[in-house]
Amino acid sequence: MIVKGVGELDSKLWLIGEAPGVHEVQTGLPFTGGAGTILDGLLKGAGIKREECYIDNVIQVRPPGNNFDMYYSDKSRHIPTSALLQAHKRLTDLVRTYRPNLVVALGNEALYALTGEKLITKRRGSILGCSGVKVMGTIHPAMVMRQWGYYPLVQMDLKKAQSESATPDFSHRYKDELITNPTFSRSMDYLEKLMHHPYLSFDIETEQDQITCVGFAWEIDKAICIPIFYGGTSWWTREEEFSIVKGILRVLLNPHTRFIAQNAQFDLTVMHRKWGLGVDNVNLWLDTMLAFHTLYPELRKGLDLITSIYTDRPYYKDTSSGGPSQLWHYNTLDCVSTWESAMKIVEELKEFGMEDYYYKHVHSITKPLMNMGIKGVRIDLRKRAGIDHNLDRDIESMLRKCELVVGHPLNPNSPKDMKQFLYHELGLPPQRNRITKVITANEEALEYLSKKFPNPVFSLVLDIRKARKILSTYIRAQLGEDGRMRCSYNIAGTTTGRLSSSAFLSGEGTNLQNIPRGELVRSLFIPDEGKMMVNADQSQAEARVVAYISGEERLQAIFEHSDEDVHKRNAAFIFHKRMEDITPSERYLGKVLVHAANYGIGALGFARITGQSTVKSQALLNQYYAIYPCIKLWHREVAEQLRNSRILTTPFGRKRMFFGRWSNTLVREALSFVPQSTVCDLINLGIANAWTNMPDGWNILLQVHDSILMQVPIDTPPIHIRKFIDHYFEIPLKIKNKIMRVPLTIKTGPNWGELTPLEV
Ligand code: URA
Repeated sequence: MIVKGVGELDSKLWLIGEAPGVHEVQTGLPFTGGAGTILDGLLKGAGIKREECYIDNVIQVRPPGNNFDMYYSDKSRHIPTSALLQAHKRLTDLVRTYRPNLVVALGNEALYALTGEKLITKRRGSILGCSGVKVMGTIHPAMVMRQWGYYPLVQMDLKKAQSESATPDFSHRYKDELITNPTFSRSMDYLEKLMHHPYLSFDIETEQDQITCVGFAWEIDKAICIPIFYGGTSWWTREEEFSIVKGILRVLLNPHTRFIAQNAQFDLTVMHRKWGLGVDNVNLWLDTMLAFHTLYPELRKGLDLITSIYTDRPYYKDTSSGGPSQLWHYNTLDCVSTWESAMKIVEELKEFGMEDYYYKHVHSITKPLMNMGIKGVRIDLRKRAGIDHNLDRDIESMLRKCELVVGHPLNPNSPKDMKQFLYHELGLPPQRNRITKVITANEEALEYLSKKFPNPVFSLVLDIRKARKILSTYIRAQLGEDGRMRCSYNIAGTTTGRLSSSAFLSGEGTNLQNIPRGELVRSLFIPDEGKMMVNADQSQAEARVVAYISGEERLQAIFEHSDEDVHKRNAAFIFHKRMEDITPSERYLGKVLVHAANYGIGALGFARITGQSTVKSQALLNQYYAIYPCIKLWHREVAEQLRNSRILTTPFGRKRMFFGRWSNTLVREALSFVPQSTVCDLINLGIANAWTNMPDGWNILLQVHDSILMQVPIDTPPIHIRKFIDHYFEIPLKIKNKIMRVPLTIKTGPNWGELTPLEV
């Protein structure tokens, strides 16, 4: 049965899908099934009236099994069949005849039919053409159904479609003046002119440790790219290069210009390393990547996506290769896109009431974190060599033991070997990855099996894996030429605002935020000459936040008696015992309960973590909620807020819109959002404030989620350390009309692994 297009052919806006499904065949109308429902919601959100659109499909009959492969002669869908080519012709003829103002291609097949382009996830949002008629691709609603994260993007695309459909004209807002390959004197002239622009975006391109070019934009369509290095050599003579770099640094250090960049941290760090740019003195005004992430933490934050949302520039991210002119042109496009996006993002920050939040909590930590990355931490090289040697030996000996226990060689790091051994040789019940549902022998599976089916092989396998990981990831992480260990902090690395970290530039360093606790690795991190390490740890920070945002006064009271063992006190409540009678395993359960129950864990999950039966787990959870009833009420409050607006706001004003499909996991994610991001905002605010007030010789070296590592001169009086940390890091925060403080436990020592409590 043919499902014909519906609506008026002289509509300004057309929507073209791929092919009808079962439901469409039944109704005889396109987009009336599940994908149609999604489309309706999206159209409504974008202010588009469905009845004012013409809606059709590339193919007007349902492919058997909804499988579009039959319209291609090859599996990878490169060679269309003549039937598909005919369908393309029908559609393009129709477009040519009726010339709507805009055609929205829903999904790859429609985009291909109308423009010959594929790769919808890249090209979505770009205004392309079909016989002079504007075409814009977006993700197919059926894909949105499968990956809900696309919803906001399609929504943004359709809003763009709504405004583009007002006119058949292609936006000619850009009178591009994109200067590439300037001569030396033109470059110098421009570097002088750049001193007089109020807003400049900048962007560097790099290749194998070299800066190949630097671009600046001063308007939405005006930019220059100054080459530096290409094909293994400098673009200029030595003297010329010296003058050009000097000119670039002068521009970047102009205090009267407000600078914009996409991931400024990277560009500035590279220019610091290569050219000694004083990164602290760059008047950075907006980082598009960080600001966009502040607005939409769930979306990708690449410049390609940002450009597709805030500019009318078509996708260009695949145009940088081919030669120097392509690279330079690409660099200018990055600069103008960043400039234009920044101007719109800043308006959006204001509109969402998040401008202050961005500057106070996100922008403010860029320079401190960048500097921490640049400085790095001194490493005890002799000790490092010793640990390397010993670990290697230990691994060998554990492998031998493992072989004896198992009866044949076993590679604990090989998933294939491990699955064969566990599920075939030992016949244990196969465990599945919680997310992918694929059979796995990961750490969680091993931990679980080891509790259910005790066998010495489990601890050996886990220990070998752990030791190998420590060796390769931390002990052998590449140090800088100066023997220091570095990482790069990703301010926009998570949806909660928690920092993440990764290797520093060019693979040097490693993620320093996951370094295992304990002496082994941390003792390698030593302070500079004449200094000592100071570590400040927020105590029970997230649980405290939950106690305050839920208004659970009994839990707040436990935290206020900070001289008590919180987990013991908690266990005493739960097990109706005196504190002194609490056993270590009861204390453990008390501890896990606070962390897990606060975030709405189910009995199954609790049983999995603690090894208790599900019945006992449920009883413990019930008991916890009975003692702290406000926690349960807070769970309901969060779920309701999520249902009503999908937006949660933290006490600091961080907002997050949750796009995911409704599920228990989504609710749990929402429950952890406010406490987690409040804690990281607290510590980051501390870093931002302390940074500009560091006494001489004091440095913040690392941020590891709820703790910071500093170094201070060895003779610093303990009272100074205590006062400084309390002042800058124990920030009073008003929550539900009460002031919450998260005290910090301070320890000092000769290295990060051997710390003792600070005695004041
Ligand atoms: N998917 C499409 O591409 N078209 C329809 O009409 C329905 C689902």
